[in-house]
Amino acid sequence: MSYIEVKNVNFAYDGRQVLRNVSLKIEKGEFVGIIGPNGSGKSTLVKVMVGNLVPSTGEVLYEGVNLQNIKDRSFISYLPQRSFSFNSSFPASVEEVVSMGLYARKGLFKRLSKEDWEKVYEALKIVDMFEFRSRLIGRLSGGQLQRVFIARSIVSEPQILFLDEPTTGIDAKSEKALYELLEKLNKERGITIVMVTHDIMAITNKAHRIICMTDGKINEKCEAIDIEKHDFTSFLYEYPVKKVKHQHNNNGSVEHV
Ligand SMILES: Nc1ncnc2c1ncn2[C@@H]1O[C@H](COP(=O)(O)OP(=O)(O)OP(=O)(O)O)[C@@H](O)[C@H]1O
Ligand SMILES: [Mg+2]
Repeated sequence: MSYIEVKNVNFAYDGRQVLRNVSLKIEKGEFVGIIGPNGSGKSTLVKVMVGNLVPSTGEVLYEGVNLQNIKDRSFISYLPQRSFSFNSSFPASVEEVVSMGLYARKGLFKRLSKEDWEKVYEALKIVDMFEFRSRLIGRLSGGQLQRVFIARSIVSEPQILFLDEPTTGIDAKSEKALYELLEKLNKERGITIVMVTHDIMAITNKAHRIICMTDGKINEKCEAIDIEKHDFTSFLYEYPVKKVKHQHNNNGSVEHV
């Protein structure tokens, strides 16, 4: 039995079909990347997998149990795409926002213990935002806010972490730190990670496996590609990937042409 099984899932928004008979399996401890063009259904698939959307037909099973029958879903953590469209004028401090990641498990209105706050601070240190802990979130840059949301999604020590384009808007240094963090959470704590991204090179380096979506379907051809060999070239050009031509000049500089 797989840890997660998506079985023949169809999903439509207002009668317009977006997921078409999607089936996939994810094993415990895997680090899986999901890639595909804009509008191909990646975010919708993730929302179905975390239970925010209910499939029109088909089912999502966790260790054989239909997600619809699992009441306590606090073992699942989900960082939605564009989290920072979240009302950032909400008058909460950085540490308060991160502590919200603990409520799913503790229940709302429970006071946080000293250990809970330690976890909040540790998560903030991991994303290098500890110094900002008392600042109101409305006074952060977009990338800083995204790092706060990443801290919130890991603070509860979930068993499975879904991240939908978490690196959008964050700088190269933080992006590298995030990938290293995810790798560590995966290797050392055995957290299963499912990450949607357009950053094909980075995800190919870090993930165990890549799932490709095209037009609401899993692209099996892409799944068969050997990730060890990074053999994405043939597949890549079927996608609207921006190809940048460049030439090496005699003086050693590189110029885009
Ligand atoms: N709330 C919604 N209501 C209606 N249609 C939607 C909604 N959300 C997404 N869609 C449509 O469903 C399709 C799949 O969207 P989805 O967000 O899953 O794509 P995606 O692969 O995550 O794209 P991106 O790379 O741009 O994030 C798109 O055609 C989109 O316009
Ligand atoms: Mg998306």
